[in-house]
Amino acid sequence: MKTSFAKPGLPTTGIVVVSANAGSKLSATASKLNKKTGGALTRAIKASNFEGKKGQSLNVMAPAGTRLDRVMVVGLGKADEVTELEMQKLGGRIYAGTKQGIKGTVAIAVDAVKDVKMSAGDIAAEIAYGAQLRSYRFDKYKTKQKPKDKPKLKSITLHCTGFAKARKNYTRLGKIANGVFFTRDLVSEPSNVIYPDTLAKQAKSLEKLGVKVQILGEAQMRRLGMGALLGVGQGSIRESKMVVMQWQGGPKSRGKEAQPVAFVGKGVTFDTGGISIKPSAGMEDMKWDMGGAGAVIGLMKALAGRKAKANVVGVVGLVENMPGGNAQRPGDIVTSMSGQTIEVLNTDAEGRLVLADALHYTNNRFKPKFMVNLATLTGAIIVSLGSHHAGLFSNNDQLSERLTKAGTEVEEKLWRLPLDEAYDKMINSQAADMQNIGGRGAGSITAAQFLQRFVGKTPWAHLDIAGVTWSKTDAPTVPKGGTAFGVRLLDRLVANHYEKS
Ligand code: BES
Ligand code: MN
Ligand code: ZN
Repeated sequence: MKTSFAKPGLPTTGIVVVSANAGSKLSATASKLNKKTGGALTRAIKASNFEGKKGQSLNVMAPAGTRLDRVMVVGLGKADEVTELEMQKLGGRIYAGTKQGIKGTVAIAVDAVKDVKMSAGDIAAEIAYGAQLRSYRFDKYKTKQKPKDKPKLKSITLHCTGFAKARKNYTRLGKIANGVFFTRDLVSEPSNVIYPDTLAKQAKSLEKLGVKVQILGEAQMRRLGMGALLGVGQGSIRESKMVVMQWQGGPKSRGKEAQPVAFVGKGVTFDTGGISIKPSAGMEDMKWDMGGAGAVIGLMKALAGRKAKANVVGVVGLVENMPGGNAQRPGDIVTSMSGQTIEVLNTDAEGRLVLADALHYTNNRFKPKFMVNLATLTGAIIVSLGSHHAGLFSNNDQLSERLTKAGTEVEEKLWRLPLDEAYDKMINSQAADMQNIGGRGAGSITAAQFLQRFVGKTPWAHLDIAGVTWSKTDAPTVPKGGTAFGVRLLDRLVANHYEKS
């Protein structure tokens, strides 16, 4: 969808959007329009339950005295509800409410709001960003869509004072949206299309934005001793890969200043469970078991797109977990790149095996300031937190707090769970240094304890995103399907703390 910004004022035809505060107090532009229509807006408000609350809207169709097709009045709520996040959601709701209404553009009048710090331009940029995020669709495989099933709306125009500055702010937000869309595409693609090699090639496309991209194949990973990752992929005919992405937007020196931050993603392009095979019902969901890797790749796109002033490394471990004549067996013992040995008691606990080598490799090669990994790691996190928080596990309170705050700011919420020696003991093995599953309880925590054994003393956080990577319901800025959870969150983490301005 195209987005443009223009000076205050509204077109005389088509669909226009104006606003009202809590108590249905019309904005300046809305008042003008109300007069022009002989009070049609106030009458419509009186005849409905519209009170100008946030989330409310009212449509006045073809008002007399104008050539307009529709006036949509949206509620802003109280002054303290006019926030960055709420304006994004408003943009999403405007998109959803008008996308079938008209071919071409919808005009949105954004007026300054009394007692609100954000300027009209700031509000306009956030509305535009929210509308853009909501406009995502994955319909490339639908060959028989009728025009009426597709959105007619092709662009929005935001009218406000300070529109040039709004346009500039939006340029940056649009780059983040591009990263989000890239992740949503990767996560939505089926596993016959996206597998380790093709996912690596998608990551390689970031080179045109200035990201350095290296792809390691099985021979290289074998030389590096990545027995944990390779064991997971050995039952698949698809070659396992590891992709290393580097964005150098920060200091170029070799000292502490230039030390990068690192993001690591689980990229199981399909998880059958392997020999410990999953039940068939719902197994199709396991196409998005690469959601962590997808988020890291989209994050790198967002950061490079907006030329973030930070040094960032993204590493993704890409494998397909299949049963087969060469598949890993329960009871196999593998040696990880760190030298630690692992007894694989359940081949369906594969994500941690992939991350064990990806985390060790990243730590060893880059000595990063911190590592954050993202993984659709456990079904148990869905039992604990459902789909409204991702699980956060960390060995570092400051990193945890920064992540949690960034998550609140972009509404990708995190909830911290404990790590503890007592849980760590649960993965000690009789035959090897550790086993890849714990006992009956605390499944998400024992998975996190497992990862912790591969990060040394580096500040580290693990985000278990199994419950939030895919959504079954539309939210204002996240249509159902792949959410790209983590892209906006980690972009914000970098912007808040790791960019020199
Ligand atoms: N990819 C799954 C976790 C998952 C489950 C993600 C449901 C999204 C939705 C992971 O590889 C897995 O299979 N975990 C097992 C671990 C168990 C064998 C210890 C699980 O959660 O059942
Ligand atoms: Mn699994
Ligand atoms: Zn998995």
